[in-house]
Amino acid sequence: MAGVSVMVEKQVTKEQVTVTKRKEEKEQKVGELTDLPGIGDSTADKLREAGYHSILAVAAATPSELSEAGGLGETVARKVISAARSALDMGFQSGDELLEKRKLIRKLSSGSLSLNTLLGGGFESGAITEAFGEYGSGKTQMGLILAVNNFVADPESYTIFIDTENTFRPERIVQLAKGVGADPDLVLKRIKVARAFNSDHQVLLAERVEDLIANDGLKVSLVVVDSLTAHFRAEFIGRGTLAERQQKLNRHMHTLMKLASMHNLCVYVTNQVMVRPDVFFGDPTEAIGGHIVAHASTFRMYFRRGKKGSRVAKLVDSPNLPEGEACFFVTEAGLKDV
Ligand code: GTP
Ligand code: MG
Repeated sequence: MAGVSVMVEKQVTKEQVTVTKRKEEKEQKVGELTDLPGIGDSTADKLREAGYHSILAVAAATPSELSEAGGLGETVARKVISAARSALDMGFQSGDELLEKRKLIRKLSSGSLSLNTLLGGGFESGAITEAFGEYGSGKTQMGLILAVNNFVADPESYTIFIDTENTFRPERIVQLAKGVGADPDLVLKRIKVARAFNSDHQVLLAERVEDLIANDGLKVSLVVVDSLTAHFRAEFIGRGTLAERQQKLNRHMHTLMKLASMHNLCVYVTNQVMVRPDVFFGDPTEAIGGHIVAHASTFRMYFRRGKKGSRVAKLVDSPNLPEGEACFFVTEAGLKDV
């Protein structure tokens, strides 16, 4: 990351430096939550407790979220959000500014050249990448491999691994770390694993990541949620509860997306598939979570078993890359190209 920012700094012009300075001054002026109109010390405390640590977090909230978190009326909440937004200059940006911003995006290597190529260089930061597929298709393995590669890319940074199925194995991390020549102990120290016992717990754990970054000063550059949907699927059975499930899942995805874009970190989530009984032609498998998960994921991959024990990843959705497939083996040392 340090390397990347140095590279980018070299390219900025004098004019851009002045703009950045002006922005920084503006941010400094309203650096505290209490600088926002209508936010006193006690409301600020409540907001922080609810995970709103910065002006940016407030600016990204909806009026109802903020009013619930801070015990404010909706009209006040709306005013606060609008003040936060103008303080941060959250208006429209021109295409060239966005292109400049995209230079800060990192690509986390999967270890397989063909998979990296499929993803335009690797797993993108500031985005959610979802892998869905049948059992044993390699989704969990991918998460473990990314955690190790995240260490290799930046030994100072942390991976947060939210494990819902009790499939995180430190022994496997040791194997994979040795596979890339990294010190297993150091790698394990940089992975914070949390076991989620049910969907509520899972949602809270994801929200807690913001605290780890803002309060504990943890430098987090990868968040893995394995599996994103298993608890939701098990807990909400039947059509009657579907709306409730989707609402909760939506909130969860929103939390993950906010983390990704506010902290320019990678989010990797896994998802199971179900067989649709009404599909007679073509592939009847479909990812769990419906439109909510489909739309919230920036990149979607379908993992399946290939020939001779290989795994095939198909990119089925991406904002800027063509559909395509990558083929690789899961080996003791990590991914290997076919
Ligand atoms: P579910 O969570 O059940 O939906 O499956 P998943 O997609 O998460 O599968 P997972 O990533 O757990 O893949 C398990 C498969 O990875 C195993 O069946 C093995 O084929 C492979 N695998 C796991 N560990 C090793 C290993 O150390 N060496 C090799 N060669 N393969 C491994
Ligand atoms: Mg798994």
